[in-house]
Amino acid sequence: MTIADSPARYGALSRFFHWAIAALLVWQFGGICSEAILGEDHPLAARLSANHTQVGTILFVLIVCRVVWAILNRGRRPDHGPGLLGYAARLGHFSLYALMLAVPTAALLRAWGNERAFAPFGFPIFAPRSPDQVVQTATAIGSNFHGEMAWIMGVLILGHVAMAILHQVAWRDGTLKRMT
Ligand code: HEM
Repeated sequence: MTIADSPARYGALSRFFHWAIAALLVWQFGGICSEAILGEDHPLAARLSANHTQVGTILFVLIVCRVVWAILNRGRRPDHGPGLLGYAARLGHFSLYALMLAVPTAALLRAWGNERAFAPFGFPIFAPRSPDQVVQTATAIGSNFHGEMAWIMGVLILGHVAMAILHQVAWRDGTLKRMT
């Protein structure tokens, strides 16, 4: 088992980042969707979404590490292939990376700029602010863009999964094997 990526397949660390982030994103969207379907006060929905900010913070750390690792491995990763499909795959992956970074960053900016203390798992990260110290631009970025960008990312993830299934079931070209 190799740690680094190669043109034939993604290495162990890239695969760990991919599947750990995928699992935690399913958890995040599962919690939010259960709130939307069952209502915010439903006990199951409240339980599934109770640790949204903590899991989101872990995701942020994992995603930053994943982006750094992807940059370090640039040039020796599996190719996206030629033509329009290859270009679409590159664009899709770039958009996913950008949104994976932007979604938790917008929420963390709001947590930094608002009045409440932010202490995921009890670790104090941002101290509370008095009302005159609130950073309106930061809270506005979180309130206006966090959820909106997350839903766009959700749609892109569905497209990503659909393409992986198409490669595996219809084209049988071994694309999925490079990440499993
Ligand atoms: C990649 C990680 C994350 C994903 C995929 C995600 C996804 C979402 C989604 C889909 C919503 C629902 C928006 C709506 O109601 O239309 C939401 C809301 C929320 N998220 Fe996250 N989130 C993530 C990280 C975080 C982090 C790190 C924090 C806190 C620092 C956070 C705090 C919140 C809060 C307070 C709300 C409710 C208010 C709002 O809609 O903005 N999230 N998130």
